[in-house]
Amino acid sequence: MSKSHYQSPRGTRDILPEEAEKWRWTLNSFAELAQRFGYGQVISPMFEDLGVFLRLGEDTEVVSKEMFTFHDKDPKAPQDLALRPELTASICRAFAQHRPTTPWKVWYEGPQFRYEKPQAGRFRQFVQVGAEIIGEEDPAADIEIITLAWRFYESLGLEHITLLINSLGNRETRGTYNRELSAYLSAASESLSAQSRETLAKNPLRVLDSKREEDLEVISAAPTIQDFLSPEDGNHFESVCDGLTSVGIPFVISPRLVRGLDYYTRTTFEFAADKLQTAQNAVGGGGRYDGLIEELGGPPTQGIGFALGVDRILLACEAEGLQLGDSKPLDVFVVDLTGGSQATQITNEIRAHGFGADRSFGDRSIKAQMKVADRSGALFAIIVGDDELEKNEVTLRDLRGDGSQERVSRSNLVNALDASLKERYSQ
Ligand code: HAM
Repeated sequence: MSKSHYQSPRGTRDILPEEAEKWRWTLNSFAELAQRFGYGQVISPMFEDLGVFLRLGEDTEVVSKEMFTFHDKDPKAPQDLALRPELTASICRAFAQHRPTTPWKVWYEGPQFRYEKPQAGRFRQFVQVGAEIIGEEDPAADIEIITLAWRFYESLGLEHITLLINSLGNRETRGTYNRELSAYLSAASESLSAQSRETLAKNPLRVLDSKREEDLEVISAAPTIQDFLSPEDGNHFESVCDGLTSVGIPFVISPRLVRGLDYYTRTTFEFAADKLQTAQNAVGGGGRYDGLIEELGGPPTQGIGFALGVDRILLACEAEGLQLGDSKPLDVFVVDLTGGSQATQITNEIRAHGFGADRSFGDRSIKAQMKVADRSGALFAIIVGDDELEKNEVTLRDLRGDGSQERVSRSNLVNALDASLKERYSQ
């Protein structure tokens, strides 16, 4: 077969039906779990005023290099817009706009867009599910948010996930720490990689995120933010850790864990899938962002949340050999040898009774139609030929068992199909 001229754009892909079934099941599982935890869904636009996303930190790569931006076409309202690279800023914008009562517990799902260098597990369009609690300082909110993410991984059957957790303190702590860290890294800059020296000039915290061999020694001896936490932030972090222990969620305190977005304060965390390659093994992350809503024009309001990367979660499930989904085969395939109008009527009738039914189109031979029926995976075939039509009957054939068949009257078709399916599923 010759290759088609157009391919899906770099960093994007088509999820075809078999794979899409796993996606649908996974997204539904998250939605059900979040609803059970008392969160309501927010569906926000896929693009926003660019200013909303500049709050993620102008020195972060997400903002400086990876944003898909464009201009509004309206000459009277010139506006820079951007496809969303994540959803926390949109949720905070929505909170500042609508001012719902707090705590506002919300969940979301959908595609995000980042102009990244595509590789395994790193795409330009990828799907996140996530949740946020807006307007709550209580460490119990941090514990609940992390628990929701953890229970989701558990519900998929994932066993090799590590929760890394840290506290970044408040804005002042971060400022002081940034200066200390910057001084330390500058003194050691001779030993750092060229990329890290570049990062150091813009955002010293991000140097800690480097996985490059030559940086590791300097990073491992760097001062940690834990030594700079205020007593309140220290207590808050301790309560979160105690709470996680009390609900049986294992974690690793990771004092050099920094996140790729700049809005974080206090609790920050990441979930690593141990079976994936280190560079793309983050299957989720999140934390507190107690100043973000104010920056977006809302009242001073705390917030905490997470987002999980569904593309990577599915890769992690594959790496752990998990079968996702609960798809049922099609109940019946209608084979019409009398022209096609019988197939139209019968599929219509049995679908109305809640059964899964399909048919072929065009005037095809019985052999061709039975081949499609077989490929459809249907459990039974309903066959209508001239003889059946004349006697007002159909033939009901077992496609997956012993191939047995029976004639049933047209008026009793739904009952007969129902009985056969029940028998099949009880075997
Ligand atoms: P993030 O760490 O940028 O955080 O992204 C969360 C997750 O999205 C990552 O752990 C990863 O699984 C997935 N992800 C990110 N970029 C890509 C990509 N290019 N391809 C595939 N998957 C990707 C956030 O987005 C924050 N909004 C999380 C948050 C919510 N913080 C507080 N509330």
